[in-house]
Amino acid sequence: MDHADPPTNDDEYTRFFASEPAPAHLASVAAQVEAFVAHQRVVGRRTVLVTSGGTTVPLEANTVRFLDNFSAGTRGATSAEHFLEAGYAVLFLHRQYSLRPFSRHYTHTKDSIFGVLEATAEGQVQVNAEHAAFAHAVLTKHHAAMARKALLQIEFTTVVEYLYLLQAVATRMAESLGANAIYYLAAAVSDFYLPRTRLAEHKIQSAGAKGLDVRLDPVPKFLVPLVRDWAADGFVVSFKLETDPALLDSKSRAALARYGHQLVIANQLSTRKRVVYLVGHGGDAVHDRAENAARADSAPFRALQLPADLEAQGVDIESLMVPELVRMHDAWIATAATAKAAD
Ligand code: PMT
Repeated sequence: MDHADPPTNDDEYTRFFASEPAPAHLASVAAQVEAFVAHQRVVGRRTVLVTSGGTTVPLEANTVRFLDNFSAGTRGATSAEHFLEAGYAVLFLHRQYSLRPFSRHYTHTKDSIFGVLEATAEGQVQVNAEHAAFAHAVLTKHHAAMARKALLQIEFTTVVEYLYLLQAVATRMAESLGANAIYYLAAAVSDFYLPRTRLAEHKIQSAGAKGLDVRLDPVPKFLVPLVRDWAADGFVVSFKLETDPALLDSKSRAALARYGHQLVIANQLSTRKRVVYLVGHGGDAVHDRAENAARADSAPFRALQLPADLEAQGVDIESLMVPELVRMHDAWIATAATAKAAD
């Protein structure tokens, strides 16, 4: 098993937040999240936090250049739609301008809005006949989600913003919803960053420069405080992206052993839309993190593959993944109730 990551201690997280400025919209996001989760609690709706898209690492405070993490946001946006379909409320924490639930069908694709709309001779714009039924279905679902107050979307850009917002959202969800919450962490989070203290204030000048040396610091593994404190009692699903398939199993088990959470969804870059691997005890995980961590080696490893005929019909793999997760979450909630009754 791969335990190569250095150990983490609590000072790291405290120091990180103490030295990096909070995003300007943190307080207003926190207020929106509080109202959103309070509503879900009142109506008795399960809620999932879906994180989506890649985080950036700015090289300048007034940012012209930045490093980016790969993720279009397809996994997150598509999963969000299926969770809504399954009756969940969705808190969608996403990279600005990455794919979003429902609107993804008309942005960033060859069928962009200009392929779907047409200008009429009467000076109006209408959906062309070929797309009308689909566009109607997508818009109806989107409007229904908004009318039910079941979808809240929050944007991040940098890794620092992401981590502040993740903490703010997760702690509020955990407080109100406990085991009824899923944390589905599909965002691609930077492993390295440039601390504020070493960030150039203005655009780095190239005139006369022989090159640019940048030394990045490791970002602390925030899954540690998330699983242990922020998302207490919730069902936590992390993702593992690798390009070498030989690493998927060992890296996923290493994550389970390290964090003691319920499930890792592993995927390979080139096949991520056709096959994912569910690694962990899922809904059968115990509510004791140390015990889950200790049995990481024996956790089931199961491939979920989209059949070729369904892929050809445009079915997405998330339509198989989300019902699996809902079943696991059912079991998790049932054991949480039993664990509480036994206390
Ligand atoms: O958006 P698409 O184009 O559809 O692609 C989807 C995807 C391939 C990006 C997605 O399925 C996926 O695998 N997302 C996770 C990608 C990843 O590289 O994760 P990571 O290695 O940065 O992090 C692994 C886990 O640790 C994540 O759940 C993350 O939340 C967590 N983490 C990471 C860094 C950090 N400092 N602290 C963390 O807690």
